[in-house]
Amino acid sequence: MITFAKPLVINLKNYNEISGDNSTKIVQDAKKASLSNHKDIIIAPPPSSLLALSKIKIPIISQHVDDVALGATTGFIVPEIVKSYGAVGSIINHSEHKIEHSQIKNLVKRLRELDMISIVCADDLHELKAISRFSPDFLAIEPPELIGKGVAVSKANPSIIKESVQAVKRVSSTVKVLCGAGIVDKYDVEKALELGAEGILISSGVIKSSSWYNKILELSSVLK
Ligand code: G3P
Repeated sequence: MITFAKPLVINLKNYNEISGDNSTKIVQDAKKASLSNHKDIIIAPPPSSLLALSKIKIPIISQHVDDVALGATTGFIVPEIVKSYGAVGSIINHSEHKIEHSQIKNLVKRLRELDMISIVCADDLHELKAISRFSPDFLAIEPPELIGKGVAVSKANPSIIKESVQAVKRVSSTVKVLCGAGIVDKYDVEKALELGAEGILISSGVIKSSSWYNKILELSSVLK
């Protein structure tokens, strides 16, 4: 299975800025930045574009997967199909698409069996501790109230990152904590790393920036 050191994970969500061919442009910008500074950059585009964007040869993941069977199921995002489109994993339980913890447990196991990575999101420390028992590859602590507000969690609530890292290390030596919500510049990334995060999950700070390439290069340059 593909492994990532300290990834910059860019969640494109369903922003109008990345509609149509713009999703191709932002992924090409991310690939150019990754080739320039040799950092791990992962993109989570809308599911309909997974197959096309995986051809650009930069790690692509789904924004969500459903714990339903491959086969006669309609309107769901099935892990095996996501893999067939060239994706290397999926975000699970994003605060904008919450699922039951029993489904999270099943999906982490199912993705691992498919050699795909799982990035499971938690709203708070309590949820993070519960989810850490499922041993995902990454656990992203993302306080919903800070998402999209441009004030980084590493500034607004630094202790939640430190406590998340400590809580995860108590139950696993392999699960890595990502920091998300409100990240806008390299200083927010540096602060998150100082607090023990091993990667970043970001969306509006990149998508709303004046230059996708320059912003991605800036943010990823301090991931070491
Ligand atoms: O998935 C990451 C996202 O929820 C963080 O949002 O816009 O605060 O970077 P944003």
